[in-house]
Amino acid sequence: MTVIDWDALQHVAADAVGRAYAPYSHFPVGAAALTDDGRVVSGCNVENASYGLTLCAECTLVGELRQTGGGRLTAFVCVDEGGRVIMPCGRCRQLLHEFAAPGMVLRTASGIRTLAEILPDAFGPDDLSRERLRRDPA
Ligand code: THU
Repeated sequence: MTVIDWDALQHVAADAVGRAYAPYSHFPVGAAALTDDGRVVSGCNVENASYGLTLCAECTLVGELRQTGGGRLTAFVCVDEGGRVIMPCGRCRQLLHEFAAPGMVLRTASGIRTLAEILPDAFGPDDLSRERLRRDPA
């Protein structure tokens, strides 16, 4: 099992906060994650004058994941402007689920948690498979 350097990962997230564009909420967010092939990817929130179009930090992180080689996320942390750990919002838990490695873990205010703990019974790609629909028609 690989040891996760959470402080280093949180430092990357704190660095990403500085690149956030949050003129409407004034709540910059930075996120960082490890990938299953050992890369570190990060993201920051990017807001929009049409408020609902805001991209959370997780959105741009996932963009970087795809742009830099794809793969799966194994560890994740996001922080506010003060570098304090915050929870990913509900929508972003779903976004992370799409790209999570089995057993993906997060650093949260209440300790290290799995994604499955904070997004139980998640809907995901498997739920769309034809094979599953055939097996469980109801
Ligand atoms: N935000 C994120 O970037 N990620 C989250 O998981 C929580 C919320 C952003 C969206 C918005 O720009 C600001 O924080 C305030 O909600």
